[in-house]
Amino acid sequence: MKIQENVVLAPLTTLQVGGPARYLVEAASEDDVREAVGFAQAKGLPLFVLGGGSNLVVADSGWPGLVLKIAIGGIRRRAEGGTVLFDAGAGVDWDEFVVEAVVGNCAGVECLSGIPGSVGGTPVQNVGAYGQEVSETIASVRALDLKEGRVVVLPEEACGFHYRSSIFNSTERGRYIILRVTYRLTLDGTPSLKYADLQKHFTASGGPPSLAQVRAAVRQIRQSKGMLIVSGDADCRSAGSFFKNPVLGEAQFSGLASRAQSRGLKIPSYPALDAQRKVSAAWLVEHSGFAKGLTLGAAGISHKHALALINTGRASAADIVRLKERIQQDVETTWGIALEPEPVFVGF
Ligand code: EPU
Repeated sequence: MKIQENVVLAPLTTLQVGGPARYLVEAASEDDVREAVGFAQAKGLPLFVLGGGSNLVVADSGWPGLVLKIAIGGIRRRAEGGTVLFDAGAGVDWDEFVVEAVVGNCAGVECLSGIPGSVGGTPVQNVGAYGQEVSETIASVRALDLKEGRVVVLPEEACGFHYRSSIFNSTERGRYIILRVTYRLTLDGTPSLKYADLQKHFTASGGPPSLAQVRAAVRQIRQSKGMLIVSGDADCRSAGSFFKNPVLGEAQFSGLASRAQSRGLKIPSYPALDAQRKVSAAWLVEHSGFAKGLTLGAAGISHKHALALINTGRASAADIVRLKERIQQDVETTWGIALEPEPVFVGF
């Protein structure tokens, strides 16, 4: 196990802000993970587990303890009934995993193409896009349980999956270090086409698209929204969606609708949002005075999507937080809705 000291974390995240970790260990195996945890415990250091760094805001002061970068690799595939189980190391790049599935003609994750980050991060926030969520395909999660000091395998039902949430980022936050994830995919399955953007993409074509065509379409749509990492493009120096789409109760929803009506506006309504009574956070942001492309210091809003806060080049974490707070205040004042951030805040 190689222990590095005072490693700047900004380059390990897609938003590219944040100070140094006191210690950093890259764990390529389960033994490495155990050893690193032992090191942190012996020294009384706070532990932070880093995956792909795509959903993080790291404080300018960095992290005072140990950052454990999970680099466990390997994808194993086995058939079971009409399905195929893919068991992937938590450190596998998520999009490389999607490629394996699509090339192997297995359906279930094709709409999750082009999402930055690693396999181990996907159960934590129940990653979802274009009508798919990983909770639909995760069979089990293998993790080191820090409370019990042993490796456990949690079946899907034990993970408590909801919109952008699981036990890993709520009730049991900090308890488990995810080591591997098993996904159950469907061999020769048909691609999922639930999302309007995606359906629109294929209206002109004749028969149903292949998994590979859906993958390509999703990547194209993501790129048009600045949600695909393209090196050198400031619009994707972000943590993806910075706020969750608020899920409203009946009374709150009608209150919002009447506020919109009094301004001559109509809140967007789509099956994908309506089914869960969600409203578009991007729309709320844009209609509270934050246009795409707006900047505040070195922080800004993507030119392509109002929900992506970006680092225009030399932003600090404080710049990002200032813009986040300004948006939250103004959305609350204008619409009476408290936007909840989606990324994980580290060292604040
Ligand atoms: N909209 C705006 N302004 C914008 C962008 C969108 O007003 O700049 C409105 C439009 O009415 C648009 C609607 O919001 O039709 C929905 O936009 P979009 O389809 O881009 O989806 P989203 O709700 O903003 C969610 C996820 C994304 C995921 C997409 C596609 C959340 C917080 N975000 O975004 O996930 O890729 O749907 O399924 O649930 C992420 O979590 O980091 C992420 C990128």
